[in-house]
Amino acid sequence: MRIPDLTRIVIATRNGGKLREFRVLLAPMKSEVLSLEDASIDTDIEETGSSFTENARLKAISYSRFTRLPVLADDSGLEVTALDGRPGIHSARYAGPEASDADRVRKLLLELAEAAGERSARFVCALALSWDGELLLESEGQCSGIIGTEPRGTGGFGYDPVFIVPELNKTFAELSATEKNLYSHRSRAAASLLRELLNSA
Ligand code: IMP
Repeated sequence: MRIPDLTRIVIATRNGGKLREFRVLLAPMKSEVLSLEDASIDTDIEETGSSFTENARLKAISYSRFTRLPVLADDSGLEVTALDGRPGIHSARYAGPEASDADRVRKLLLELAEAAGERSARFVCALALSWDGELLLESEGQCSGIIGTEPRGTGGFGYDPVFIVPELNKTFAELSATEKNLYSHRSRAAASLLRELLNSA
């Protein structure tokens, strides 16, 4: 595998929550972590894949054609058992293109109340690292939890206020950033990618 210079790396996202988490998760690489805006990439790549892995790959490869820097793409979302795995890859657009995190959480709680079933769920994160249009590495991380009946906590982003970590009986939004990183799908995917990167150095 060709190893790019990792002094600077672009995270293929416009989501501030994800970016903040990556700045911590990638700290061992000592890279400067840039957003799409920082890298002056204003094109948006459509997520047309049918899985988290396909979408992460698509974003990483496509965005890496707009910059000379390596690009790390994250495609992630929430799979709820009683909703047959929805919202899944549609997590970001679950309540429509203009909806807020609060709108998405509200819709999820309504749908789950109607389903009146079990409340187990999992977060999934697929990562893909690409450089110069070439896919270099991929990884995936998951974490299991329970969807609460009302939002709790003010930290994190997205569905964090309703995602309860059973061992702690706290939502991701009630954890500090460091605590969330002990359990999260994203931290597991990032750890596995960093391991592979070290092994191929
Ligand atoms: P995408 O990967 O940009 O397509 O969007 C992922 C969506 O899944 C986000 O907009 C959030 O709604 C949700 N999501 C992914 N990871 C997390 C997380 O760690 N906490 C809460 N919500 C998340």
